[in-house]
Amino acid sequence: MAQENIYTDPATKSMEELVALCKRRGFVFPASEIYGGINGFWDYGPLGTALKNNIRDWWWRQMVECPPIGPDGEPVEIVGLDSSIIQNPKTWEASGHVGGFSDPMVDCTETKKRYRQDHIEVLIVDDKGCWGFPENNIDYIAKKLKKANVSRDDGTVKNLTDIDTSEYEKIIAPDTDKPGTLTAPREFNLMFDSHAGAIKSDENKVYLRPETAQGIFLNYKNIVDTMRVKMPFGIAQVGKSFRNEVTPRNFIFRSREFEQMEMEWFCAPAESAKWYDFWKHERMRWWESLGVDKANLRFRDHDDDELAHYSKMCVDVEYKYPFTAPGYGELEGVAHRGCFDLTQHQEHSKTKMEYFDQAAQLAAKEAGKSKEEIAAASKYIPNVIEPASGLTRAVLVLLCEAYTPDPDRPAGVYMKFKPKFAPIKAAIFPLVNKDGMPEIATKLYHELRQKYVVQYDAKQSIGKRYARMDEAGTPFCFTIDGDTLNDNAVTVRDRDSGQALAERLPLDQVDAFLAAKIAE
Ligand code: GAP
Repeated sequence: MAQENIYTDPATKSMEELVALCKRRGFVFPASEIYGGINGFWDYGPLGTALKNNIRDWWWRQMVECPPIGPDGEPVEIVGLDSSIIQNPKTWEASGHVGGFSDPMVDCTETKKRYRQDHIEVLIVDDKGCWGFPENNIDYIAKKLKKANVSRDDGTVKNLTDIDTSEYEKIIAPDTDKPGTLTAPREFNLMFDSHAGAIKSDENKVYLRPETAQGIFLNYKNIVDTMRVKMPFGIAQVGKSFRNEVTPRNFIFRSREFEQMEMEWFCAPAESAKWYDFWKHERMRWWESLGVDKANLRFRDHDDDELAHYSKMCVDVEYKYPFTAPGYGELEGVAHRGCFDLTQHQEHSKTKMEYFDQAAQLAAKEAGKSKEEIAAASKYIPNVIEPASGLTRAVLVLLCEAYTPDPDRPAGVYMKFKPKFAPIKAAIFPLVNKDGMPEIATKLYHELRQKYVVQYDAKQSIGKRYARMDEAGTPFCFTIDGDTLNDNAVTVRDRDSGQALAERLPLDQVDAFLAAKIAE
């Protein structure tokens, strides 16, 4: 019998076991595995691709096709885009990525390893020195401190960014036992570059986009000129981004190739605070709609000193990942980008990005505003509110959230996806491969596959078939048994309880049953 609600805390889940399940069941494989893999790159298997597509489609549905109702009670307007991954390199000069998209890195002269400065924590113990370790790596910290015969409680923990570089000579870097091997921090640009055309020269240098957002800003004017959109409105895009992360880690959490779901919301500067607040809460509501437990989500406002170069205000939606628990890690950022990007592109491209707001002009006139106020309200470079989330990170969240150990089941675990996001919606089993059961099961399968991703499985014992579906996270199994021949009904095995539903389900109601569950 499944034990409800015991395992919902991600802190109790093992990433090692989750990664093994993902490999075993075809959710995620290491990229180029037969060649030993390649750090920071992952391939999504059949189930992982289906899960990712289901999340992407739900985001697109809720952002572009049926966006939320705005604060005034009217649906907001958002249009879709699919821009090129490689753009004119001037894009990245204007956006600040060529000059500023870098992380301060420190090198270890002993091990030749490179670390992000802000990812190293240092335990300072008065008489026993200073031990550096990668932030949040609990196993590593425990091993290293045990070796040095000190405990975390013996000293104070500081981030390496808070320690003067002149003090680095005292620090024993991660992965070594010698003090003083860390260099002073150096900036390391995160953009992958390449060359477009036959000649590898600086003139031909291009970049793989590190965010999908800039493709949206480049097309802002095209959209205004062609789509009859009126302020405020949004442009949404889903696609691959690339960052040469120095320390890709935690499975697919930080990869070098990943997918983003970004929406740039263009609005009048005077209304930007209202929309920042609106999108912040809308985005949290969306994450909850994926079936993520509220207790595992939270907001975190950025401090001024961690704001990105383009950002005026930013709040992260964070999730309690098994590797951050009891702490939380980033899932989505909602940033107030002001008019930074459009102003930069206006300056660098000499293309006017100003918007003439006829409605605002009329409202200002009717409100009896001064000439200057009317002018300011009617012509401006829009402000931008940007909810930017990771699609591949959303896959990780749903994998972590769904992973539910249950020692009483043959598989020892089941994946508790909300039916809407489950890669396989239902399985159809003939109890035995004779007595007319396969014929009825095949007929049902052929009907259901027209509308849903369903699987027909007649191999091995029913227990083994359930176990396979538990690991795939299939919410329902319909079994055609001896009674079906008489009552035209199936048993429904419910994944979460691990039990058959009390009522048998008539064959002609299976479609409606599934439709209702997926719509929830
Ligand atoms: N346009 C703004 C922007 O890109 P970001 O906070 O750098 O902002 C947005 O990225 C989201 O993209 C993050 O919240 C995260 O979900 C995802 N993301 C960023 N870097 C990632 C990486 N290396 N691997 C996987 N996902 C990543």
